[in-house]
Amino acid sequence: MNMTPQTTSLRSPIITVAGHVDHGKTSLLDNIRKTGVQETEAGGITQKISFTRVPIKNIERRCPLIVEKGIKLEFPGFLFIDTPGHAAFSHLRKRGGSLADIAILVIDVNEGLKPQTVEVLEMLKLNKVPFIIALNKIDNISGWKQQAEAVKESIERQSVNTKLQFDEKVMIIVGSLYHHGFHATLFYEIKDFSKELALVPCSARTSEGIKELILTICGLSQKFLKEKLKPGKEAKGVIVEIKKEKTMEYCEAIVYDGDLSVKDEIAIASFDQPIITKIRILEEIEPASFKFKPVNKVSAAAGIRMQLVDSKHILPGMPFVIFKNNVEEIKKEFKKDLTAIKTDAQGIIAKADSLGSLEALLTLLRQEKIQIMSAGIGAINKKDIVVAKSNLENDSINAIIAGFNVGLDEELKDESKSEEKNRELSKVRIITHDVIYKLIEQIVKTQKERAAQLQKERLMELATISKLKILKNFVFRNSNPAVFGVRIEAGKLKKNIPIMSERGEQISHVKDIQEDKQSVEHSEEGKEIAISLPGVNFERQLKDVDYLYSDMSQQQFKRFKENKDLLTTRELSALQKIGEIKRFKK
Ligand code: GTP
Ligand code: MG
Repeated sequence: MNMTPQTTSLRSPIITVAGHVDHGKTSLLDNIRKTGVQETEAGGITQKISFTRVPIKNIERRCPLIVEKGIKLEFPGFLFIDTPGHAAFSHLRKRGGSLADIAILVIDVNEGLKPQTVEVLEMLKLNKVPFIIALNKIDNISGWKQQAEAVKESIERQSVNTKLQFDEKVMIIVGSLYHHGFHATLFYEIKDFSKELALVPCSARTSEGIKELILTICGLSQKFLKEKLKPGKEAKGVIVEIKKEKTMEYCEAIVYDGDLSVKDEIAIASFDQPIITKIRILEEIEPASFKFKPVNKVSAAAGIRMQLVDSKHILPGMPFVIFKNNVEEIKKEFKKDLTAIKTDAQGIIAKADSLGSLEALLTLLRQEKIQIMSAGIGAINKKDIVVAKSNLENDSINAIIAGFNVGLDEELKDESKSEEKNRELSKVRIITHDVIYKLIEQIVKTQKERAAQLQKERLMELATISKLKILKNFVFRNSNPAVFGVRIEAGKLKKNIPIMSERGEQISHVKDIQEDKQSVEHSEEGKEIAISLPGVNFERQLKDVDYLYSDMSQQQFKRFKENKDLLTTRELSALQKIGEIKRFKK
């Protein structure tokens, strides 16, 4: 793909605004673009990603300091992306976050870091996005009065009490950020923007500090993004939302690089083959507004809406490029984009609701060294269960399906209502969550438990710990072989293991185990069973014996000791008894 810039100017940076619910993201954007979106939202809550184009002349008008300080901005404007802060919309935050050139993390100065603030912080760290922090709602600090044009002066001129409160709130936030690995400083005290994270105190309500916020973003864009903002020639973009209006289906998308013409044919990344389609209608978002108007061509970064000839199978998060009969080249290109989707020869099954969230899931899984055998978008289905089931036999720690923002599909939901099928399903662990870090935590925990279980099974394969109480009233046969009842008080019992008495006499080996008159290979703690021991005369050898134990070598004993974390308390105390009987060294 041709990467030479078509002009010397840079493309508009994409700025994602993110943060905890109600901390003031939409209000801040309303303030910057002078709109009143927040008031028109249902319940005042943002529920979708939206983008706004703010041309540079609007920015300069909002922030005369840019011109006064002689800062020359080489890009045409900013493309802001507003994201929802409500916990339920973490997938939308992710989609917004992965597109960002720069981000503004909004924190209510009076509330400090909240769960979604932390989620955004982690995501920005993961995607290596430079960002600044808007410490919003300073006007809510008790006694606050705007004392000067510049927020720095206004802060310094607050009453003693108010200034103290401000300092304390900032200190707490700086401390919490430090805990997450960030060295944050008030923007006017920063010496090196590449090492320190700028905190800009502001109010979306009174506009204090907004100029400074804009100036800091401009500075950061000029300083860190120059290379990244050199536009390529041909369009590259990402689908953000699919919307149905009446019978029409629209794709909202962001073109983050190059130019896109309505005449272009585009290739949208999908799993096997790219989806290749013509554009029926191309529209671009109007400056500082949410209206789209039809255009023939857009240049990055642009918020667009498209009606496509073929929009089946397109999902939010899918990247696209211009198609020029170059399927192989495009596949290669997407492969780079979709490297995170690469799967391993063995591993768990990962499902998510969009490409962006699937990538985030796989990246975090890999960080935890969890392998992925199969990855896909959409609800968990029968095929996923089949794949997970095939792991049950040889690779049980990977018989796990992870669903991020997705649940079971209709067919499986129906099946899970039937008890028998449900039992089948439950052998495969299905773990779903809409908070990615919680999901990862649960997968790690499940794998650890399964690994411990597996290790124990292997340990028990060579030797077995068992403590058996002889049930004297259930002697079915005195000898040849002796058959009598026992209760397994600790551990397991398996066929063929050697048995000794509590006094250390070697008795015999277990020839058969009967549970409810059925012969079985092994049995567990708590069960009352009949065992048959060849070469034993019950009356003579076992009449005065209360307990039998499994016999084992000193080496086997040592291995159990080394892995004692895997044993239950009962097993451990039975093992200690075996050690005493055999006079093994502790
Ligand atoms: P979500 O999109 O739902 O995550 O919320 P948001 O972060 O976009 O917050 P929003 O802009 O909807 O603001 C939430 C509430 O805080 C609204 O009632 C705003 O009027 C109020 N608010 C926002 N900024 C300020 C501010 O600087 N000062 C004060 N006093 N109130 C503010
Ligand atoms: Mg909002």
